Amino acid sequence: MFFLDKFDAKSYDNSYDNSSKEKKVYDVFQTISPHYDKMNDIISSRMHRRWKADLIKQIATQKCLSVLDICCGTGDIALRLAQENPHATIHGLDFSENMLAAAEDRKTGLDLNNVLFHHGNAMALPFEDQSFQCVTISFGLRNVPDYEQVLREMHRILEPEGTLYCLDSSYPDSPLVKPFFKVYFKFIMPAFASLFTRHKEEYKWLNDSTEQFLTKNELAHLMKKIGFQEIALRSYFLGSAALHRGKKTTKKGDPPCTEKIL
Ligand SMILES: C[S@@+](CC[C@H](N)C(=O)[O-])C[C@H]1O[C@@H](n2cnc3c(N)ncnc32)[C@H](O)[C@@H]1O
Repeated sequence: MFFLDKFDAKSYDNSYDNSSKEKKVYDVFQTISPHYDKMNDIISSRMHRRWKADLIKQIATQKCLSVLDICCGTGDIALRLAQENPHATIHGLDFSENMLAAAEDRKTGLDLNNVLFHHGNAMALPFEDQSFQCVTISFGLRNVPDYEQVLREMHRILEPEGTLYCLDSSYPDSPLVKPFFKVYFKFIMPAFASLFTRHKEEYKWLNDSTEQFLTKNELAHLMKKIGFQEIALRSYFLGSAALHRGKKTTKKGDPPCTEKIL
């Protein structure tokens, strides 16, 4: 794991109020880290792999040489980016030591020297302004206590013309489909969790955080308010997940990466 010298100024404060969202999320991921990858495959029927592959493809097209993956968890995005972009330097950041330890384990044996994992808090990124060409967050934003604060931090650390990608789960827009997803998230997913792990309560959080999260349009508008431009989104599987993209500033002639421009 890689720690910056400046880290102490803005580091993760372990003294959170026990009832805070941040503390709850920290405890959830510290607990479920050994099952995280397996359960992701089970609860999404491996669809998360395709969504992440799409994100990785889009970043490769941008030819970003420096990428930060916030809330990197066990390193799914960061490690694949590092494998597919050997000339780029990839950084992953997470506040859960156990998730990061799993990421380091996966890195071992892959023979990668272009990926670094950092322990830190998405709410106060331990990086200089304008340090990265791309910043990604995958299934992370809905977990943080203040979405706007994290998006502002992502905007701050991006170079001019840098690109933000945010992949996250969402409720489908169609009122016909939405109830089926609610039942799945609320009852079936925690049932899978208790079948395969002993952590039904922790998996209930995945439903609660999706339920409380911004709609796709709300997120796009928040990005716009912060100053992102060329905001675009792509929906996956009936709208149960979405990839938002935004540019720090617009470069003329950039191809749109989406099916739907807001
Ligand atoms: C659902 S996992 C996503 C992991 C990975 N990005 C993926 O797509 O599989 C969410 C991750 O966000 C991390 N996280 C949540 N809040 C955070 C915060 N405030 N700062 C840093 N990491 C955070 C958790 O520890 C967890 O590893």
